[in-house]
Amino acid sequence: MKAIVVSRHGGPEVLALQERPAPVPGAGEVLIRIKAAGVNYADIMQCRGLYPNGPKPPFVAGFEVTGVVEQAGPDAAPWKVGDAVMAFCSGGYAEYAVVPARQLMPKPAQLSFNEASAIPCQGLTAYHALITLGRLREGQTVLLQAAAGGLGTLMTQMARNVGATVIGTCGSDAKCVVVRELGCAHAINYNTQDFEAEVKRITDGRGCDLIVESVGGEVFEKSLRCLAARGMLVTLGMASAQTGQISSLDLLVHNWTVSGFHLFAYTSDGVAMGRAMSDLRTWLEEGRLRVLADEVFPLEEAAEAHRRIIARKTSGKVVLAVS
Ligand SMILES: NC(=O)c1ccc[n+]([C@@H]2O[C@H](COP(=O)([O-])OP(=O)(O)OC[C@H]3O[C@@H](n4cnc5c(N)ncnc54)[C@H](OP(=O)(O)O)[C@@H]3O)[C@@H](O)[C@H]2O)c1
Repeated sequence: MKAIVVSRHGGPEVLALQERPAPVPGAGEVLIRIKAAGVNYADIMQCRGLYPNGPKPPFVAGFEVTGVVEQAGPDAAPWKVGDAVMAFCSGGYAEYAVVPARQLMPKPAQLSFNEASAIPCQGLTAYHALITLGRLREGQTVLLQAAAGGLGTLMTQMARNVGATVIGTCGSDAKCVVVRELGCAHAINYNTQDFEAEVKRITDGRGCDLIVESVGGEVFEKSLRCLAARGMLVTLGMASAQTGQISSLDLLVHNWTVSGFHLFAYTSDGVAMGRAMSDLRTWLEEGRLRVLADEVFPLEEAAEAHRRIIARKTSGKVVLAVS
């Protein structure tokens, strides 16, 4: 089978197309014929060797796919050949992947294979960060960094769906147009406006109830200063590769909560995952959640997909289509 292999840590240039033997499912496993592989910012960090406990080269990149069950090993019920599925996996930038049966989810009928590739990682992260952890409610104000990205476009719609006022930051006016259309009441181009000053102006100095921050460094520190008293900041990424500093005195004085978030701490929680998928499916059926998946590249062009994300040129989900 064709697969995109990371042979050493580095930038997009280390992604190479190789022929590899197709994996064989064992007991409790399923072989998926991959239709679409989701590209995530975490893939770029893994490629660079910056992802905590990431895989060691050589490895096949990617951890999120959609496709069709090609073969089910013993004890892989309820999955059967021909089921349309989405899954977390290792080695997703490939034509086939073997996945433990418990990591499969049925593909929502409303979504194409390309669109559904946004759901396992970005869709579930958006839900759990905002709602399971952040407990976002109607009437609250939320600030989303990178609102036009794969994660951000889904968070924007979910936050609007629960009745929150959404403030989103983006790196261009074109991206601001995208997020306004998805439900951002206030879109801030941080290259032309100071987002901290803008948030204070929009909220009359009060700040936001919830902030989801994925850039790190100075953006993390400025985001903290946008929090309302008793607000929560969820930090779930470090696109800048910089950490931010925090003062315990500030936490105390303002009654702030700052929480880390990593999706894999939630995937084994059956109750939380069931609630998330149920709400996601309802929103999809009602037409209140859609996936922007215009950035589609053939598997062979994985390096170009990474280059576009690194250059901050993408909006919505980035997908590798596997023929
Ligand atoms: N913890 C978890 O479980 C989890 C799960 C999923 C995603 N994440 C994190 O969430 C973030 C978004 O992930 P994604 O896959 O949806 O990516 P993405 O948002 O589609 O792409 C990253 C975006 O971040 C923005 N950005 C701002 N500052 C940046 C910088 N210094 N360098 C690069 N990009 C910068 C850019 O948008 P603008 O040009 O508009 O600023 C860029 O398009 C990532 O940090 C990712 O690691 C975490």
